[in-house]
Amino acid sequence: MRKKIVAGNWKMNTLPAEGVELAKAIAAGRDQVCECVHFIVCPPFTHLLPVHDALRGSGIVLGAQDCAAEAKGAYTGEVSAAMIAATGCRYVILGHSERRQYYGETAATLNRKMAQAYAEGLAPIYCVGENLEEREAGRHLEVVRTQIEEVVYRLTPEQFASLVIAYEPVWAIGTGKTATAEQAQEIHHYIREVLAARFGAAAEECSILYGGSCKPSNAAELFSRPDVDGGLIGGAALKADDFLAIGKGFAR
Ligand code: PGA
Repeated sequence: MRKKIVAGNWKMNTLPAEGVELAKAIAAGRDQVCECVHFIVCPPFTHLLPVHDALRGSGIVLGAQDCAAEAKGAYTGEVSAAMIAATGCRYVILGHSERRQYYGETAATLNRKMAQAYAEGLAPIYCVGENLEEREAGRHLEVVRTQIEEVVYRLTPEQFASLVIAYEPVWAIGTGKTATAEQAQEIHHYIREVLAARFGAAAEECSILYGGSCKPSNAAELFSRPDVDGGLIGGAALKADDFLAIGKGFAR
C-alpha cells in the first residue's frame, strides 16, 4: 500500500513564532483526520528546530524546502543536507519549479542535491511539471518524462524506495487554477509507467502527489483518482484548518 501524503510547502512565509503557532494548530487538529494520512510540513530553514519541537508527539513529520548540492565548506548562504537532517527533518523538497525557474536549478544540480539528501537519510520529494506553454503545445508528458529520466533514473532501487514524487503543473501553482482530476490522473498514471520502465513493480509503491492550487474544495475529488496519492500544498498549507481539511479529502 502506498503512503497517502499531505505535505505543506510554506515557501518563504511566516516568521518563526508564527510558524510555531501554525505547527501547534496543525498538531492540535491532527486527530480529526484519518491516521492513514501521513502529514509533512516544510517550513523555512530558520523555523526547522522550533517547528520540530512544536510537532513533537503529533506524528507529523518535518521536511525542508531545499538543500545544498555540496556536503560542506565555503558555500556562503547554503544549508547542507546534514544540517537539515540534524534538525529532525525526514524529507526535503527538491526541484520545485520555483527553484528551477528563479534559481536556475538544472538536472545536473538536482542530481547532486539528491545525492546529498540520500547520504544524510533524507527522503526527497522530487517535483516535476510542465509550464503553460508546454501544456498548450501538448508536450506535458514529454517534459515530465525528461525531468524523471534525467534525475530519478539515476537512483538506485534502494534510493528509489524512499522517493516521493510531486507533479505540479507550473500553470496551477499559486494561480487558483487547478488541474482537473482527470488531467491529474492521466499524468500521474503516465509518471507511474515511466517509473515502472526503470524500477519495475516498485513504481506501484511510490507516492505521487499533486500540487498546484490544491485546497479543501478540490482535494477529495483529486485524491479519489487511483494514481493521486496526496498533495503538495502551498497557499492552503498556511492555514491549519485548510491544511487539515485537505487531509480529510481521503476517503477513510
Ligand atoms: P500552491 O503551491 O498550493 O500555492 O499552488 C503549491 C506548491 O508550489 O507546492
